[in-house]
Amino acid sequence: MKKQIAIEVKNLFFKYESEYVLEDINLTIYDKEYIAIIGPNGGGKSTFLKLLLTLLTPTKGEIKFYNTLASNFKVNIGYLPQNINFNLDIPISVEDIVLQGRLKRGKLFYKKEDFLKCEEILKKLNIYEFKNRKISELSGGQRQKVLLARALISEPKILILDEPTASIDIKGQKEIYEILKELDLTKIVVSHDIKTLFEGVDRVIYINKKIYVHQNPKLSMKPGEGHFCEMEILDYLKGFND
Ligand SMILES: Nc1ncnc2c1ncn2[C@@H]1O[C@H](COP(=O)(O)OP(=O)(O)OP(=O)(O)O)[C@@H](O)[C@H]1O
Ligand SMILES: [Mg+2]
Repeated sequence: MKKQIAIEVKNLFFKYESEYVLEDINLTIYDKEYIAIIGPNGGGKSTFLKLLLTLLTPTKGEIKFYNTLASNFKVNIGYLPQNINFNLDIPISVEDIVLQGRLKRGKLFYKKEDFLKCEEILKKLNIYEFKNRKISELSGGQRQKVLLARALISEPKILILDEPTASIDIKGQKEIYEILKELDLTKIVVSHDIKTLFEGVDRVIYINKKIYVHQNPKLSMKPGEGHFCEMEILDYLKGFND
């Protein structure tokens, strides 16, 4: 059976000011594909995600989701931004924040299944014990897990995560990537945690103004080692920054 295309990016250019931050990006992401995005600081990764989320509008080119222009696409996309500024004065509990991910337009009350789903996800991410804590009473990494739980509980069709494990310890990173691996949906994750991330990933994409698609990360795994060979990426990318 032919794979269904989830996201199609064609001749995409973007600039905030006079200089292009992204140039001639072409990319097709298939339904249920798990994509890792890597690249240097300032390379345009977060900008690319914001374009996918229609938080920014392309300067040139187009983005389609399931054959519909992104600007008209109404399907649920779960998103975890890179930098989250909490208003720590708001006395809102962990459970409340996560449950908000279940709110849809026109829905005013939570059902029993919403609470059950919340419990399940909090347990999965090992933060159930903080359920009734205020968000201001958590560490940075714990807060990040809460937001990940919020993105997951909405049961999105596409999940977009911008450095989800940036302030999470190694054990927590592994837990999160294990969970992501099992999720049966289209996933796009920006990360610098190359070794932990690449297990289960279908393709690795490098963005530094331009895009480089690494077709098959499995090819470069050494038997039994279970992680991506970073040297190989560097080899592939030689000359890319010129
Ligand atoms: N709102 C903005 N206005 C102007 N320039 C911006 C804005 N946001 C980002 N930039 C610039 O666009 C470029 C790409 O930034 P972006 O945040 O997409 O990079 P990134 O690959 O996500 O980097 P990092 O790994 O540090 O998160 C950078 O040069 C940055 O300075
Ligand atoms: Mg970024």
